[in-house]
Amino acid sequence: MTHFHFHENELYCEETPVAEIAAEFGTPLYLYSRRQLVDNFRSIDGAFAGVDHTTCYALKANSNHELLRILAAEGAGADAVSAGEIHLALKAGFSPSKITFAGVGKQDAEIEYALRHDIFAFNVESTEELAVIDAIAGRMGKKARIALRVNPDIDASTHPYISTGLKTNKFGIDISVAADVFRYAHSLPHLHVEGIHTHIGSQILKLDPFEQTARKVVDLVSGLRAAGIDIRHIDFGGGYGVTYKNAIRHPLLPMEDATAADEAPMNGEFIAAVLPILKTAGCSIVIEPGRSIIANTGILVTKVLFRKDNGVKKFVIVDAGMNDLIRPSLYQAYHQIVPLTLKQGDPERVDVVGPVCETGDFFARERAIPSVQRGDMLAILTAGAYGFSFTSHYNARPALAEVLVNGDKVRVIRERERIEDLM
Ligand SMILES: Cc1ncc(COP(=O)(O)O)c(C=O)c1O
Repeated sequence: MTHFHFHENELYCEETPVAEIAAEFGTPLYLYSRRQLVDNFRSIDGAFAGVDHTTCYALKANSNHELLRILAAEGAGADAVSAGEIHLALKAGFSPSKITFAGVGKQDAEIEYALRHDIFAFNVESTEELAVIDAIAGRMGKKARIALRVNPDIDASTHPYISTGLKTNKFGIDISVAADVFRYAHSLPHLHVEGIHTHIGSQILKLDPFEQTARKVVDLVSGLRAAGIDIRHIDFGGGYGVTYKNAIRHPLLPMEDATAADEAPMNGEFIAAVLPILKTAGCSIVIEPGRSIIANTGILVTKVLFRKDNGVKKFVIVDAGMNDLIRPSLYQAYHQIVPLTLKQGDPERVDVVGPVCETGDFFARERAIPSVQRGDMLAILTAGAYGFSFTSHYNARPALAEVLVNGDKVRVIRERERIEDLM
């Protein structure tokens, strides 16, 4: 998180003190660094130097219009999983020729929408879906470009809810029958079979599952070519993990309990590991990173409302809730939490919880953090991915605001909802 740092014990985003932003725009608040976003994109995209490729940003991680505009201007493509995401990508300026459309449950109207906008490719997840896309394309007098999503049965060693490349997951077509399904796709008159797609999960911290997948994909490409089916592109998906623990280090912050396995490789390292393998197939390469582009670009700023000590546990109750950032409740995900202003003093072991009427509404449990009081401000770090895009109105809580920092300039990129806006 190089663009979030402490200067004289105050948390800054780029050149702006976060406490000043919180005072001006209120809390809870998502705050993003423009420079971090651009740096992240360039470090991933740049790792392909000289190789024909497209980095399609996975909109599901965060689809704020202004953030999308920045990525589109950087030359990114877009990975969408609904007609809504295709719409947002087009509105933000992504070229249709760089938009992929994934998902196990595409509706007919969504398929028509994607065909009407002539997107780059459908990533198809089942035999039945192939037949439906073929029929719809035929009715519309079009040919649909498709890639088949292959499930390589690789254990990505990530949380079970975000593992997608195992036989037991609902995603893709089992690699053992993939050649037959490719042959079937090839026989359909309104499809152009262009590529192979894989995506084995999210928040993957090891290089090995990616390398194994790359080998399986390259083998499949040669098998298909031998059978007369040419494959023009490999879409290698996303899933490149990020470091959540000790994202910011400072002498006044407790060191978080982390092992080497919690540390993510640098962004470009994932690509460097698989590129030599993928290149042997002689295809153009597409990737679909979400988290590794956007996670450490954003923080969630929240205010301490109350403290409570029931003799067994100490609670710090904040004004953000699980409806604003669901990852800890949903996946027991870890986010470092730091005060916006650091003071001398011993850390305290507390639960940091939200105001939502669920016991699962927490951001940290039994976590040592610097001691804080009512009115203090906290930043929940590395919250840019699967943060705002996963928000809900649960408990009739209005959607929070989002702001973008660019050096010493700050602007609102999503207005805070008011209770009058609730339906
Ligand atoms: C098909 C597909 N591509 C890309 C992504 C983005 O993954 P990540 O944000 O981990 O890079 C996902 C997310 O799970 C996905 O399902």
